[in-house]
Amino acid sequence: MKRKHLISIEELETHEIKETLETAKSFLEISKRPIKKVPTLRGKTVVNLFFEPSTRTMSSFEIAAKRLSADVMNFSSASSSVRKGETLKDTVLNLEAMNTDLLVIRHSASGAAKFLTTFCKSSVVNAGDGTHEHPTQALLDALTVLERKGRLNGMKVVIVGDILHSRVARSDTFLFTKMGSKVVLSGPSSLLPSYFSSLPVKVEYNLDKAVEGADVIIMLRLQLERMVGGFFPTLREYRERYRLTPWRLRATKPDAIVMHPGPINRGIELSSDVADSGRSVILEQVEKGVAVRMAVLSLLLGGAR
Ligand code: NCD
Repeated sequence: MKRKHLISIEELETHEIKETLETAKSFLEISKRPIKKVPTLRGKTVVNLFFEPSTRTMSSFEIAAKRLSADVMNFSSASSSVRKGETLKDTVLNLEAMNTDLLVIRHSASGAAKFLTTFCKSSVVNAGDGTHEHPTQALLDALTVLERKGRLNGMKVVIVGDILHSRVARSDTFLFTKMGSKVVLSGPSSLLPSYFSSLPVKVEYNLDKAVEGADVIIMLRLQLERMVGGFFPTLREYRERYRLTPWRLRATKPDAIVMHPGPINRGIELSSDVADSGRSVILEQVEKGVAVRMAVLSLLLGGAR
């Protein structure tokens, strides 16, 4: 991979996606060793800049950087001078003055990661910007599917729920369509954005129909923190129509897998018996996330093995 930053899946060529996944595959084994460390990024400094809450993504980037022997600093906006009125640009310039090599950023504003590339010397990785993209989540979703199914093409991938506010849905849609799979989006019409009209995706409002013959189902949380106004009549009605239950799973392929980027709102988009069933690969996604982030960090910093 020749690029310096990773901002979106939309900008990636299919050969770059393949190269990243191949590299991630080769890193999977490191996390199974008794000593989980290689010297690939020794002497490099990675800063995690999180302006929004995160459990999986921040810890995954931190663990990935540490397994590659990089030095990592976690910056949380809640305990920083952002609370005293410091701007995003000044915050980043000050951290960069400490000679960082790579910045991982999560921010509520779509475009925040791209904005950093206009003035940063360091590489920038988008760890989720508003409703725009979350490229490493799509790459780890792809690695999970690849490991389970052995391919990324010719599959029916159904993405369900709050597509409108989901950067994961956008990145996954770009990735799976680029790799030759069929993407079906399902959710209430008020939560389906118009960008899909320019993409080779199908929309099916009825979840029972959408999941027919599916290979992969990606369930999403209602992003209540990004909603202004009412997008569905009641939570009860949303659950009735869009919760994935064992009954609904009967219409998929027998070996279909259920995915979720987390955090799960149990009982709303996913019933617990599905979340905890053998069909669910949700914790495998988290495991693959570390390898994918190791691959992204090493490819961008030129330290691939
Ligand atoms: C997602 C995110 O932050 O975009 N979570 C994640 O990174 N695994 C999805 C969400 O918050 O619902």
